[in-house]
Amino acid sequence: RKDGVGRLPAMGWNSWNAFGCDVNSTKIMTAATEMIQLGLKDLGYQYVNIDDCWSVKGTRNATTHRIIPNPSTFPQGISGVAKQVHRLGLKIGIYSSAGETTCAGYPASLGYEKIDAAAFAEWGIDYLKYDNCGVPSNWTDQYNFCVPDGTSAQNPNGTCPTMTNPAPAGYNWATSKTHTRYTRMRDALLGAGRTILFSLCDWGNADVNTWANSTGNSWRMAGDISADWTRISEIANENSFKMNYVGFWGHPDPDMLEVGNGNLTIPENRAHFALWAIMKGPLIIGTALNTISTTHLDILKNKYLIQFHQDPVYGRSAHPYKWGYNPDWTFDPAHPAEYWSGPSSTLDGTLVLMYNSENQTATRTATWSEVPELKGGNAYQVTDAWSGKHLGCVKDSHSVQLESHDAAVLVVGHRC
Ligand code: GLA
Repeated sequence: RKDGVGRLPAMGWNSWNAFGCDVNSTKIMTAATEMIQLGLKDLGYQYVNIDDCWSVKGTRNATTHRIIPNPSTFPQGISGVAKQVHRLGLKIGIYSSAGETTCAGYPASLGYEKIDAAAFAEWGIDYLKYDNCGVPSNWTDQYNFCVPDGTSAQNPNGTCPTMTNPAPAGYNWATSKTHTRYTRMRDALLGAGRTILFSLCDWGNADVNTWANSTGNSWRMAGDISADWTRISEIANENSFKMNYVGFWGHPDPDMLEVGNGNLTIPENRAHFALWAIMKGPLIIGTALNTISTTHLDILKNKYLIQFHQDPVYGRSAHPYKWGYNPDWTFDPAHPAEYWSGPSSTLDGTLVLMYNSENQTATRTATWSEVPELKGGNAYQVTDAWSGKHLGCVKDSHSVQLESHDAAVLVVGHRC
């Protein structure tokens, strides 16, 4: 899948979180023009992605077998919208599923991979989000897909151990059917004669982390996000255990942004964006850009976080270095990753994030000697990434009062 696109995590906009199935070409073009007018394109946001519900339900073109764009919501077809989006210097994405129908019940691509990939390429598509709905029962996987190799080390009751690579004694890997379904579309896209970023959306099923990196550019690692803090913090915590999979060309996807949606507080919007950016998943805006507030827009435009996210030299994401009140490496929403750090070539320093997971205001302290990238020095030049304020030469540690669910982001620069 390394065909020249997707070395860095993608940035753009998608219709689903803002509009669900109520999508049409006007809304897509509004998002595209706003991306330019609001200065988002200049900061690197480039994909304008159409999610589910763009086609005619229940049928394909009888002659070409292609999916038919809905003529009332997309009167100029998808290719017409693609032309306009390209004219603005942006790129366009579309959505299908590795099943017979999409999650909302529209025609999907299982068995039609070549036909659909060829249509997408011809229409000028640059990005495909590929979901995991509508899968017939003979194409689904058991949770683990190990196969006993016939030796005595097999578990007698037939259940699978946790599969490692190489497989544990007594087992071989089997190719998962999920993997096969996604590989078919990968190959169809590679053969379609157009560079199309491949975004997998199998919600972490079938041990996707073990094969996604060779199949697509990004892969969803959990079920859907929603615009509430419980779900967002749960995803952040779960994704924090996937950071070893992040690198150039490969990006675990914590799902699209909810900044600007629902009843999230400003601190929650801020922490959400900051965590998504430093985890180096795709940054796909999911709110209506013609009505977005300046405060939400400013969060999405934070130049320090975007620079960290789009680092051309370090593919590595930030990693957690300290956990909430009961530090623990096991997955447990009660013990979230609260302290993160990572190197940045563009910021010429280390990015440190401190997050308050508590339901009340609390103090968080970044202590230089605890930050893996900073071992050795005791005083550094520090900049606050939200205000852009230079905090001067800070010795030993920096404490902040954080509102509930807020995150502080520091750029820790040269020694002083
Ligand atoms: C799934 C995906 C969502 C969205 C919907 C569309 O739930 O995970 O991101 O694409 O399908 O139906």
